[in-house]
Amino acid sequence: EKGGYDHFMLKEIYEQPNAIRDTYRGRLLADKGIIKMAGVDDNLDRIAKANRILIVGCGTSWHAGLVAEYIFEDMARIPVEVEYASEFRYRNPVITENDVVIAISQSGETADTMAAIKLAKEKGAFVFGVCNVVGSSISRETMAGAYTHAGPEIGVASTKAFTTQITVLTLMALKLGKYKGTISNSDFRLHLQALEAIPKKVAKLLQSDKVIKEIAATYKDARNCIYLGRGYNFPVALEGALKLKEISYIHAEGYPAAEMKHGPIALIDEEMPVVVIAVRKGHYEKVVSNIQEIKSRKGKIISVVTEGDVEVKELADHVIEIPETIEALTPLLTTIPLQLLSYHIAVLLGKNVDQPRNLAKSVTVE
Ligand code: M6R
Repeated sequence: EKGGYDHFMLKEIYEQPNAIRDTYRGRLLADKGIIKMAGVDDNLDRIAKANRILIVGCGTSWHAGLVAEYIFEDMARIPVEVEYASEFRYRNPVITENDVVIAISQSGETADTMAAIKLAKEKGAFVFGVCNVVGSSISRETMAGAYTHAGPEIGVASTKAFTTQITVLTLMALKLGKYKGTISNSDFRLHLQALEAIPKKVAKLLQSDKVIKEIAATYKDARNCIYLGRGYNFPVALEGALKLKEISYIHAEGYPAAEMKHGPIALIDEEMPVVVIAVRKGHYEKVVSNIQEIKSRKGKIISVVTEGDVEVKELADHVIEIPETIEALTPLLTTIPLQLLSYHIAVLLGKNVDQPRNLAKSVTVE
């Protein structure tokens, strides 16, 4: 049942090229230059005219929501807020009938997310679901939705759910952007082509597993770890840290790289591994200077860079290369080595990777 893999988590990490492809199959019609998504098509005006989009979720699904915030605002120019479902449900939020709420949940059974949906519905918002499990409670409670087609996710640590959630949300944002005219036709096509190229790039990236295993062996005994990223890759830093905490029980924190100097930098010494996402897009030069700050405090730098990078290579202790893609899609690639890193560390430490202590696959109580 694990298809020859030692753990479900590893199997699911390796399934990502297909899972992403299955998620856009039949939706992304690159030759026609269109995106077909029934749940969005049927409610296009309602969603495109939203005053704002509120995204709710928990854990990894919340992180996918944070990535979506960047994508939606960039492409569809709709203001987005992302909230932990558990906070949203108890804070008397201001919601109107002109709001669209997107609830993200792999299992479709998370109690806090479900309660947030019910609250949003009571207040008259239009509620859209992004779930993986077909027929799940959340997929039934939402007014429309789009499934991720990741296939069953058994490992408690969410991996392929994350990348397929981002895939669905990207398609949705592109579709809205095209409808609203906030993305040019050429940009739209460029994104479609780039998305279609992602599965192959993920497959290529999975081949760097050996390098990552070596890094894992070097840092498996660390007590703490920091993850940094900016822009689209800030949520990936949070996700990388969550994955490490969850399965290896090593304390890890994710931060937007620029926040370092507002406190966390005090933690840096020669004992501290710092995982930095420094792809050659967006804020590259700024991240490079963040890396210099860590280096001058003797932190150990594990960097995720774009193929062919030179600048970071000179500074970092370890380098993991990802294939080139457009900025908005980099999270689909940068997240893969971070999943593998926590996987290998947990295995080397002899932890129960698929069923970490104190955790359940779906959190059906609050
Ligand atoms: O099924 P859901 O996506 O609603 O689950 C949300 C979180 O419980 C889940 O992502 C959790 O954080 C994972 N174990 C993270 O790997």
